[in-house]
Amino acid sequence: MTLRIAPSVLSADFANLATDVAKIEDVGDLIHIDVMDGHFVPNLAFGPQVVAALRPLTKLPLEVHLMVDKPENFVDEFIKAGADTILVHAESTPHLYRVIQLIKEAGVKAGVVVNPGTPIESVSPILHLVDEVLVMTVNPGFGGQKFLPDMLRKVTHVAQLRDTTANADYTIEVDGGVNADTIGDCANAGADTFVAGSFVFDNADPAGQVRRLRGLIE
Ligand code: DX5
Ligand code: ZN
Repeated sequence: MTLRIAPSVLSADFANLATDVAKIEDVGDLIHIDVMDGHFVPNLAFGPQVVAALRPLTKLPLEVHLMVDKPENFVDEFIKAGADTILVHAESTPHLYRVIQLIKEAGVKAGVVVNPGTPIESVSPILHLVDEVLVMTVNPGFGGQKFLPDMLRKVTHVAQLRDTTANADYTIEVDGGVNADTIGDCANAGADTFVAGSFVFDNADPAGQVRRLRGLIE
């Protein structure tokens, strides 16, 4: 299985995003971009313009994590902006199936995200459709929070469901509190894709931090 590190630019220097992205270009596997609307989560971050601005600056795939109400209203704009993957929260729409369909029909990878309090069973009807399942390992909205170890069981459950669900073929990502102390447990539980924000960018050597994480799981 390919293990991937996804630096989250939520912890980058917003006045120098291009410089920070360049720092991880050769060591990261994809770039994680958090979108927050102040409703679904109590914070604001990044719109499609930022995705469009980053697109020509990097060869890495751009993964957009939508923390917004009614994601169906925003999917088109993020696809036009150049998103390679769009991640939608199960809790954010009564039309989850349709949103996943919309994303996939546009030829973009689709993922479903579950908050810490959301059981994975709630998304079992769409597991055969998604390219990625993101298990939140903090309550979404802010970088720099403490990892919730209770979520490791959920990660293992998501991996088991992949084995037992017909036609399921998804990567398993963790987001929140991923650092040198927690990444090993996440990998052992079955995660293959690791978002890391503050651990990477709240450091003078972001590339070194990505290499350090990779060294702990490979
Ligand atoms: C939190 C975001 C994360 C955030 C993670 O709601 O979804 O992507 O950047 O930050 P760290 O790695 O600092 O927990
Ligand atoms: Zn995120």
